Amino acid sequence: MEKIRVLFVCLGNICRSPLAEAIFKHKIKERNVEHLFEVHSCGTANYHIGDSPDSRTIANAKRNGVEIDHAGRQLCVADFDSYDYIFVMDQSNRKNALRLTANAIHHTKVIMMREFDTIGKGEDVPDPYYGTEKDFQEVFDILNRSTENLLLDFLKREKQNGFSF
Ligand code: 4NP
Repeated sequence: MEKIRVLFVCLGNICRSPLAEAIFKHKIKERNVEHLFEVHSCGTANYHIGDSPDSRTIANAKRNGVEIDHAGRQLCVADFDSYDYIFVMDQSNRKNALRLTANAIHHTKVIMMREFDTIGKGEDVPDPYYGTEKDFQEVFDILNRSTENLLLDFLKREKQNGFSF
């Protein structure tokens, strides 16, 4: 069975998108559906290639019971063929990601992360880089809600397609 290939994208790939990746991985592990997904994250910028997530993101995730293990990577043209869904954190990421698309199929893969949020649907996931712990916790809460709804949506569709897990 083909896995659903999911890529989370932000600017630096050290705060928001590695956290989205870690929370989503935590959720699929908890539900025993890891085998259905391939999950990664990257950034539109090249500032933090090879870097670990921001220490504040790691600490915040840990406080919320989520482990992060990631090395920064930059979004590239090949990702639009390699992944089925590319979830961007904000409008600026969206614009930068769309610049790399080569066709209409690539274009439709780019989706705002908060399309799946129940509060502030479709809005940006705010960049916490210059913020405080409160801002990091707000990002965690947003991503926790959004990835939960995203996962439920995926699982509902898998069920409709007749897959049992
Ligand atoms: P992220 O946050 O896009 O959520 O990883 C940022 C990380 C680094 C920078 C900006 C935003 N930076 O300017 O280095």
